[in-house]
Amino acid sequence: MTHKGQVEELQAQALAEIEKAGSAADLEQLRVQYLGRKGRLTQILRSLKNLPPEVRREVGQQANAAKEALEAALSQALTTLKEEALRAAAAREIDVTLPGRRRALGHIHPLTRIMNEICDIFQRLGFEAVEGPEVELDWYNFEALNIPPDHPARDMQDTFYFNDKVLLRTHTSPMQIRVMEKRRPPVRIIAPGKVYRRDSDMTHSPMFHQVEGLLVDRGVTFADLKGVLTEFVQQLYGPEVSLRFRPSYFPFTEPSAEIDIACVICRGLGCRVCSATGWLEVLGAGMVHPNVFEAVGYDPEEYTGFAFGLGVERFAMLKYGIDDIRLFFENDLRFLKQF
Ligand code: DAH
Repeated sequence: MTHKGQVEELQAQALAEIEKAGSAADLEQLRVQYLGRKGRLTQILRSLKNLPPEVRREVGQQANAAKEALEAALSQALTTLKEEALRAAAAREIDVTLPGRRRALGHIHPLTRIMNEICDIFQRLGFEAVEGPEVELDWYNFEALNIPPDHPARDMQDTFYFNDKVLLRTHTSPMQIRVMEKRRPPVRIIAPGKVYRRDSDMTHSPMFHQVEGLLVDRGVTFADLKGVLTEFVQQLYGPEVSLRFRPSYFPFTEPSAEIDIACVICRGLGCRVCSATGWLEVLGAGMVHPNVFEAVGYDPEEYTGFAFGLGVERFAMLKYGIDDIRLFFENDLRFLKQF
């Protein structure tokens, strides 16, 4: 074979091998094999000096051209390999241009929400929120509140007892006693919290929430009670909602009243929720009974006060149009997510 033919063949072989190379290491090996110090093309270039001058020139040019072609092919192949590797890596990694996965946000429970709203309104009116025990003594839950031993509320049917003296509080009213026992007037508190009764149906739950209110000072009148409750209801349900005070009876207040609001569902026209009366009973209230003041050592000749109590679930049911109290406690996400 001519020298020229030898160079041509070597170049073609090298290019074919470079094209097949699958890694940078393969390429490096090929570079050494052809262009290294003892490489096959290098050897041809070195042996040029032994050739007769007329052949040397032509073969020399060709061998140099082949060297350049191989170097170019090697570097091109290396670049291609690197690009492919990058693309493969990118495909495996996170694509930052994709939209993120949204994290589901929790919701404030509708009861917590209305409880917060109720407390906020009273706090703006100057009432301090206080909390107390759910496991309560008979003295605070009944006795000191002027509820006599034969009162029906004390029946085992209504109250969860631990023993003769210890029970689950059936209302938040014992907080009136606990606060007055420790403080001198003026007293202006609300007491939000859980209460318990043996009762369960669409509108009654064995555990529910109340907010108690108490204001005691010199010269407090029923007009103050009316003003505070009117302001409260109108802040919660809107200024157009009217109130109605009905005479009622609670052992710990005298006089006592139940307060109705114009039905927030039918606006007073009469519907299923208000039993076609147009009114909804939402609050119990009254002027603190002198016997209650005596139980805590306040002089009923010197001080007067008013108290009130409301059921939080009832307020929430009316505000959000919920017709079954049990929905609050089932923790069904389809219900909770609506708030
Ligand atoms: N404690 C009463 C109940 O559980 C509600 C109540 C009525 C509270 C009148 C009061 C009040 O403070 O004055 O049904």
